[in-house]
Amino acid sequence: MCGIIGYVGTRPALPILIEGLRRLEYRGYDSAGIALAQGGKVEVTKSAGRISVLEQRLDFALPQATGIGHTRWATHGAPTDLNAHPHLDASGKIAVIHNGIIENDRALRTYLERQGVQFKSETDTEVIAQLVGHFYAGDLEKAVRQALHEVSGTFGIAVVCADEPDVVVAARQGSPLIIGVGQHEHILASDAAAILAHTSQVVYMGDGQIARITRDDFRLTTLDAIPVAKEVEEIEWSLEEIELGGHEHFMHKEIFEQPDALANCLRGRIDVREGMVHLGGLVDCARELVRAKRIILTACGTAWHAALVGEYLFEELARIPTETEYASEFRYRNPIIDDGTIVMAVSQSGETADTIAALTEAKQRGALTLGVVNTVGSTLARGTDAGVFLHVGPEIGVASTKAFTGQVAVLSLIACYVGRRRHLSTAAAAQFISALAEIPAQIRSMLEQADDAKTVAERYAGLDNWLYLGRGYNYPVALEGALKLKEISYIHAEGLPAAEMKHGPIALITEGMPVVVIATSGSQYDKIMNNISEVRARGGSVIAIATEGDREIKKIAEHVIFVPDTVEPLQPLLTSVPLQLIAYHAAVIRGCNVDKPRNLAKSVTVE
Ligand code: G6P
Repeated sequence: MCGIIGYVGTRPALPILIEGLRRLEYRGYDSAGIALAQGGKVEVTKSAGRISVLEQRLDFALPQATGIGHTRWATHGAPTDLNAHPHLDASGKIAVIHNGIIENDRALRTYLERQGVQFKSETDTEVIAQLVGHFYAGDLEKAVRQALHEVSGTFGIAVVCADEPDVVVAARQGSPLIIGVGQHEHILASDAAAILAHTSQVVYMGDGQIARITRDDFRLTTLDAIPVAKEVEEIEWSLEEIELGGHEHFMHKEIFEQPDALANCLRGRIDVREGMVHLGGLVDCARELVRAKRIILTACGTAWHAALVGEYLFEELARIPTETEYASEFRYRNPIIDDGTIVMAVSQSGETADTIAALTEAKQRGALTLGVVNTVGSTLARGTDAGVFLHVGPEIGVASTKAFTGQVAVLSLIACYVGRRRHLSTAAAAQFISALAEIPAQIRSMLEQADDAKTVAERYAGLDNWLYLGRGYNYPVALEGALKLKEISYIHAEGLPAAEMKHGPIALITEGMPVVVIATSGSQYDKIMNNISEVRARGGSVIAIATEGDREIKKIAEHVIFVPDTVEPLQPLLTSVPLQLIAYHAAVIRGCNVDKPRNLAKSVTVE
């Protein structure tokens, strides 16, 4: 969604701001803009559409050392030039960019209009710009502080002022901001990806904090002007990880990164011989976890599918009653949190607004909160009592792939960690862990012969309705396979627990309709074979995902994609991979923008 970049230093700001905006593109946006403070003026250039359109309007000849840039994903007002950020105050000397939503913007707008302010846009952000201008009396930081006292909602903002051309003021409440610390320069961004090219030294701003940033220093205070200590941290991601590196799309790169990503995720955490899992992030709450009476997993989108696999894992391995709840539903339905309830948020970005809101609700009701998060320093990572990072590296493609398998791997680790301390025998844990240790190599071998998925995509990409069926651990995989296809190829697809097909969706099956069935070996194999027969009897074309060595399946499915054998709880780590590839190839064949699918955002930071 929206992205923020800011620069104050000795180099020309404009190329740095543009490069930063490009690094933020993957988050999804529909307009972009830049403000430069120079020569007693603030120059604002903005436009609807891509950053390349904005670039054509910019004057690179201008001297510039301080500036802010923004990518907007419309919420209040259409994606037009006028509604794009930055927004100016009435004097035209103060420019503001903003991520988040101001909830009392109507009331503030009315108040300011009564004072004679004329608004130019329909955005809630302009209210902040006008308010800062209203309070400004020679001290930008002070005016921002006064303005933010009037505002309720969420914000990450950056502000520049013509009269203080060497300063960027930033503030955060519920929307991330990071300050990159360079040599005689500071780079402000809402996402580490926009900073990495310049420095890996960063300070994560906390909620309710304001920063006054200059070339050589910055001051961090609370909204009430109490000084805050700066903690400089090192970003562990490298620039290489956020670049295409020869792949045509980030999604392709990230699918093929899964063997290494999962090896990193597991590194140092499993001891096959002892049947033990080591998770440093859980040490302090191990007792509470082991004694938990109930676990609630909460997440959105793909992370919710991973959480659903987690539900099966926790119940089977740890024997703790577990339920998975959409974060957006959890928050608003007055959830019951008893003693011994643990709420675990699953999220790649750690910035999904619904998941953060669910976590906040759970905390307020006294639950121990845990995070299964990829992004170090993110709001969820900082806001949970404890947690386990995925360590799968940055995910740039909007359609989540390696984060899904990373989430499932971490949930497997946690389930085994808790299970081992409850009912799971050493032998059973050792068997599970050694199967887990083999997964990266198994995915690698699958990816070496990934042509089957392409063949399936070539055959069916022209058809607009698909079904995905799975049972047990592979039911969430069916949901995820369908979601991947929808997201990037715009083909309508439904994922179902296979037995549910008979209760309605079977009516959809017509001659030649592609039905992807995850039919790997295991306790429900016979049942899923029956489901395949039901599909065949109605003329559906079955694409089966099956276990290597299965001879029967070839007789009844049109296409079979084989995956290596593993224990049933770990099958999602393998069966999800061909489904990612089918979606990827279908999108490419249909000419879709794989990494920037229409209407979608990588990180949904509004509720
Ligand atoms: C958006 C993305 C999805 C993602 C979901 C949750 O909808 O497009 O790919 O699964 O958010 O994101 P999170 O960062 O919390 O895992």
